[in-house]
Amino acid sequence: MGSGFRHALVIGASSGIGEAIARCLAADGTRVALIARRADELERITGEINAAAGEERALFRVHDVADTDEAPGLMQEIARALGGLDLVVYAAGLMHPVAFDEFDPVKDLEMLRVNLEGAVAWLDPVAERFSRLGSGTIVGIGSVAGDRGRSGNPAYCTSKAGLHAYLEALRNRVARDGVTIVTIKPGFVDTAMTRGLDGLFWLISADRAAEIILRHARRGSVSAYVPARWRLVMAVIRCIPSFIFRRLKV
Ligand SMILES: NC(=O)c1ccc[n+]([C@@H]2O[C@H](COP(=O)([O-])OP(=O)(O)OC[C@H]3O[C@@H](n4cnc5c(N)ncnc54)[C@H](OP(=O)(O)O)[C@@H]3O)[C@@H](O)[C@H]2O)c1
Repeated sequence: MGSGFRHALVIGASSGIGEAIARCLAADGTRVALIARRADELERITGEINAAAGEERALFRVHDVADTDEAPGLMQEIARALGGLDLVVYAAGLMHPVAFDEFDPVKDLEMLRVNLEGAVAWLDPVAERFSRLGSGTIVGIGSVAGDRGRSGNPAYCTSKAGLHAYLEALRNRVARDGVTIVTIKPGFVDTAMTRGLDGLFWLISADRAAEIILRHARRGSVSAYVPARWRLVMAVIRCIPSFIFRRLKV
């Protein structure tokens, strides 16, 4: 089955979930552009995609999402190079390990910059373009971590909670113009971000996550936990009163 998308852009595609989404899309015949900072990884992945496709199906651009001024111009350049744009996935993300007694604004602000500011810098111009053209799908990769203020990593939770609110507000703005915005909240996925962390459960592969995420993108889901069993867990966690939640070291 084809992906249902003809021209896609994946931001944060040099590893993990973004890489798996880009590979999955290309395998289904979608022309795809990959963005991240690591040129060597992007070159290797696009080379493998193009070799498997037997044509130039993937291209890449090196970009740091903290360079927010570059986003609108790069989006236009990529849309031209691909021959169109009907899907944009924002998968770029950063989760610094933070000790329980650590209060480091440098680390925290960097997470906010990559996970939230970068998303706004990219998805505002994308939403405007899709709105003007009357179609298009945006997928934002949030996290179950955005559903509560966890003591273990305050800024990471904040960046994801902010992303969820931003995506919802953007959806409410552009849905009437024919634009679909999908909020994805993964649980634990086996990527560089989770490698070496303790206490992981229900770990799924990046390929499995990509498959589920693209199914929701095709369907035009509003919001989805990945995998779906997190919906029930998070419904319970969201109901835990604050005076109990603060005693849990999560
Ligand atoms: N793994 C999990 O269990 C899990 C759970 C919930 C949500 N998520 C979310 O899923 C998304 C993907 O994470 P992952 O697990 O696939 O981790 P990952 O393998 O570390 O991938 C992160 C991606 O973001 C890119 N990135 C980071 N900083 C960037 C920057 N300044 N500019 C441009 N690109 C940047 C990285 O590329 P470069 O380093 O090459 O720039 C890489 O492609 C993130 O938003 C993460 O928060 C992950």
